[in-house]
Amino acid sequence: MAGSGGHDWIERNIGLMAVLIIIVVSIGGLVEIVPLMFLNETTKPVPGLKPYPALQLAGRDVYVSEGCYVCHSQMVRRFWTETERYGPYGIAGEYVYDRPFQWGSKRTGPDLSRVGGRYSDAWHLAHLRNPRDVVPESVMPGYPWLERRKVDGKLVTRKMRVLRKLGDPYTDEDIAKAAQAVAGKTEMDALIAYLQGLGRVMTGQQSPQQTAQVQP
Ligand code: HEC
Repeated sequence: MAGSGGHDWIERNIGLMAVLIIIVVSIGGLVEIVPLMFLNETTKPVPGLKPYPALQLAGRDVYVSEGCYVCHSQMVRRFWTETERYGPYGIAGEYVYDRPFQWGSKRTGPDLSRVGGRYSDAWHLAHLRNPRDVVPESVMPGYPWLERRKVDGKLVTRKMRVLRKLGDPYTDEDIAKAAQAVAGKTEMDALIAYLQGLGRVMTGQQSPQQTAQVQP
C-alpha cells in the first residue's frame, strides 16, 4: 500500500480522479486528432481531383437533401471483399472537396463511391424513377419528382463562391459559367451527373465518353 506515491490518495478521491482522467484523455485525443489537420495525406487532394463542376455540385445537394446517404455509403473499406466488389479502397485525399463527406455508416444499398461510369445515364434515369423497373427485387424508393424540379443557377453560383472562400480552387470562369451550365437542367439531371462523376479519379476513368457503358 505504502510506497505508491500519491496514487492511493488519488484513487480514494473519486472527484479528483475524474478530473485527472479527463485531462489525460483530452491530451490523448488532441495528440491523435490535431496532426490529421496538418498531414498532407489527409488535407491534400489526390492527383487529378477537381472541385465539383456546377451541375454535379447541385446534384450532390440533391443527394444530401433526399437522404440517399441513409442507405448508401461512399467509402470502400480496405478489405478484399470490398475492393473486389467496388474498386480501389477510399483514401482521405479524394474527399477534400466534400463538405460534409458522405461516407455514411449504413448500407441498405451498395456503396456508391465508385459508381461513376458503371451504368449509363439512361439506366440511372429509369432506376431513379422507379428502381424496380431495372432491379425487380429492389427496396429503394423512386424519386420521380426530381424530374419536375429545376436547378437554381443563382444558388449554385453563390455556393461556388462560398466554397471558394473555404479553399476550393474554383476559377472566376468556373463561377461565371455556373448558371449557364445548369440552365434548364432538372434536379434529376444534376443527381445523375453527380453519380456519374463519383470515384472516377480513383478508378482512372477520365470522362463519360471514354467509359464502356454497362446495360444490365
Ligand atoms: C431505403 C434505402 C435506399 C435509399 C433511401 C436509396 N437507395 Fe439507392 N439503393 C438501395 C438498394 C437496396 C439498392 C440495390 C438495389 C437496386 O439497385 O435498386 C440501391 C441501389 C442504388 C444504385 C445502384 C448501385 C449499384 O452499384 O448497382 C444507385 C446508383 C443508387 N441506389 C442511388 C441512390 C440515390 C441517388 C438515392 C437518393 C436519391 C438512393 N439511392 C436512395 C437502397 C436505397
